[in-house]
Amino acid sequence: MIIAMAIVFEKETKTFFLDGKGVTYAFFINDFGYAEHLYYGKTVGHDDLRYIRGRACSSRDATIPGNDRGGMNCYHYFPAELAFFGTGDYREPAVEVINPAGDRLTELLYDGYEILASKPKPSGMPALRDGETLVLHLKDKTAGLACDLYYTVYDDAAVVARRAVYRNEDAQRRLLRRAYSFTFGLPSQNYDVISLYGAWARERRIDRVPMHHGVVSIDSKRASSSATLNPFLALAAHGASEEQGEVYGFNLVYSSSYVLKVEGVNCGRTLVTGGVNDFDFTWVLESGACFETPEVVIAYSSDGIGGMSRAFHDAYRNHLVNPRYAKKTRPLVINNWEGTCFNFNNDKLKAIAKAVEGTGIDTFVLDDGWFGKRNDDTSGLGDWVVNTEKMEGGLTEIIRYVNSLGMKFGLWFEPEMVSEDSDLYRAHPDYAVAAPDRPHCYSRHQLLLDLTRKEVRDYIVESVNRVLHENNIAYVKWDFNRNATAFYSMGRAPEQQAEFAHRYALGLYDLCERIVEANPNVFFEGCSGGGARFDPAMLYYFPQIWTSDDSDAEERTYIQYGTSLAYPLSAMSCHVTEVPNHQTGRITPMKTRADIAHLGATGYELDTSAFTDEDRALMKEQIKEYHSMERLVLEGDLYRTASPQDSNLFGFMLVSKDKQEAVLTVYRRMGSVNNEYMRLQVRGLDEDTEYIVSGFEKTLRGSTLMNLGLMPRFPRGDFQTATYRFTAKKA
Ligand code: GLA
Repeated sequence: MIIAMAIVFEKETKTFFLDGKGVTYAFFINDFGYAEHLYYGKTVGHDDLRYIRGRACSSRDATIPGNDRGGMNCYHYFPAELAFFGTGDYREPAVEVINPAGDRLTELLYDGYEILASKPKPSGMPALRDGETLVLHLKDKTAGLACDLYYTVYDDAAVVARRAVYRNEDAQRRLLRRAYSFTFGLPSQNYDVISLYGAWARERRIDRVPMHHGVVSIDSKRASSSATLNPFLALAAHGASEEQGEVYGFNLVYSSSYVLKVEGVNCGRTLVTGGVNDFDFTWVLESGACFETPEVVIAYSSDGIGGMSRAFHDAYRNHLVNPRYAKKTRPLVINNWEGTCFNFNNDKLKAIAKAVEGTGIDTFVLDDGWFGKRNDDTSGLGDWVVNTEKMEGGLTEIIRYVNSLGMKFGLWFEPEMVSEDSDLYRAHPDYAVAAPDRPHCYSRHQLLLDLTRKEVRDYIVESVNRVLHENNIAYVKWDFNRNATAFYSMGRAPEQQAEFAHRYALGLYDLCERIVEANPNVFFEGCSGGGARFDPAMLYYFPQIWTSDDSDAEERTYIQYGTSLAYPLSAMSCHVTEVPNHQTGRITPMKTRADIAHLGATGYELDTSAFTDEDRALMKEQIKEYHSMERLVLEGDLYRTASPQDSNLFGFMLVSKDKQEAVLTVYRRMGSVNNEYMRLQVRGLDEDTEYIVSGFEKTLRGSTLMNLGLMPRFPRGDFQTATYRFTAKKA
């Protein structure tokens, strides 16, 4: 039996070939010892790819150091695996160091490689799991700085995962002013840059602009990946559409201040780079110490933006999300937040739970307001002790009741925060992030805890774990409702203060690791004032994340559409909530709210205590329907068939991997007349398979359905949905 190696080093040409699902990544070590990029795209054979090397144009740019006869050779003109600064390369460097002598020169050249059968986990940081991994050793012999580049490919996802580790091999400390994760080169500039921008309750809208000469940059300076710009960008060939054309996607497995840059460089090439934001960043790298950078996942698609999304979805479901939960049926919750806010007692909670008994809801989640003296958002954060004045009998009583109805119990925490009006703050005011002699900046009346300090993390781990261990809790919603200010830690020396944002991420990961691992039977959902920290690093710990505080069905079509560019539907927590909607005031039909919320990890969040038998029956029916398509939500391939940003419609089609089953949900914003000749797109089916389509008497071939589409059958009115099921006819 021949075992195909995913990673091969060809000695004669010094070329590395990395073969993943449908893709090849190749680079070689050139005559100067420089790691020069050759190709990333659809699978190609291991021919000598060096014939595509561009010749440098005539220029007066600097030569390779010490090589006055280097002719046109110059670091600036090589497609880079890692661009560095001060030795002839004027592009955005991935690394800048201040060496002990004060110079900032770097020249990281080839120093060997290793191919590892299994991927090592970065220390203290999440990353994709598994996969054969290449470690490329680079070294600056003059400066005593080394850099290892890690590359991992997968046979079940069209992505390459990359990261860099910088090591100080010198006897003296040096300062890292910039330490990005990667450099990646593309051979042209004919791309549009796609990013996901937004705000609270308006997360992940799609922006698409043509790239230009110079640098297009997106970033966060908040010590959180943020709702402003997701740590994702894509380069789509001009004209590439949802299902056609080349697209490269970049997504950082990182939750703190980051940057991603696209640079149109001389001679028509494009360079992409990024990682930890170097704004407000200087890292003291002691002698012998390493700086590990977060991983970037680079997806490739020749099938348009949809193909890129499917590559990310496969990678995240197969290798990022906790395998205990990635493809498992998710808790189907009733959450009390939109129903009650802080205004509840045991009787109210019991009535909400009782009303959904027997509907298929399996978990009751008690949101904010159960602890400390928290009756509004001005107090109590940090005091993870049940408020028995509000809840007689403590958690024990309500949990016993919920369990007696056959449901599990879940609880809200905001572990990274403290209120000034709390016992924790009164005892340890220094635990809050603050700069000396400056007043606090507040947000939602709360302060951030200094997770860079171990004693602060120990307090949080101990107090959260105590609640989880002492009570029968099956589910945790982990919220994070403000961003950092005063990037300063009382626990660090002055010269280390610009390490704060990255150290916050490391502290957060340590916290997640210690709480998630200590509670293997608890399901964790992430949240951040809605969906402000929706990134791959959080998904590593939390299999799903609350997508947005805006749960209006109309608004959700935009938010869920944008989020799906990088993240699988199973990652998006989506609830059916009250009308008029709390954020928009809009009234949409219950069926529409459910159909949109069912395109994710679904749940309900409303005051069910006033439910009639009819409401209950409808909910039961909806949950039954959800379960019948749940496998497709958890494992299926997503085809986006209509964009709410470009049309009156939104369409998601989910197709099982074996193409035996599919569901198409289409939403029409505004009702209209005389539109009966409109066709709905159908995608992803097998051309030759015959499908039974729900609502039609006919059996239709996949090719027919995909070429002709479907005639829509929407109910009258605005904000309506239509769903179609496709089932392969048994032979
Ligand atoms: C944030 C979350 C909400 C809810 C509230 C509670 O806004 O996004 O879902 O949990 O906090 O305070």
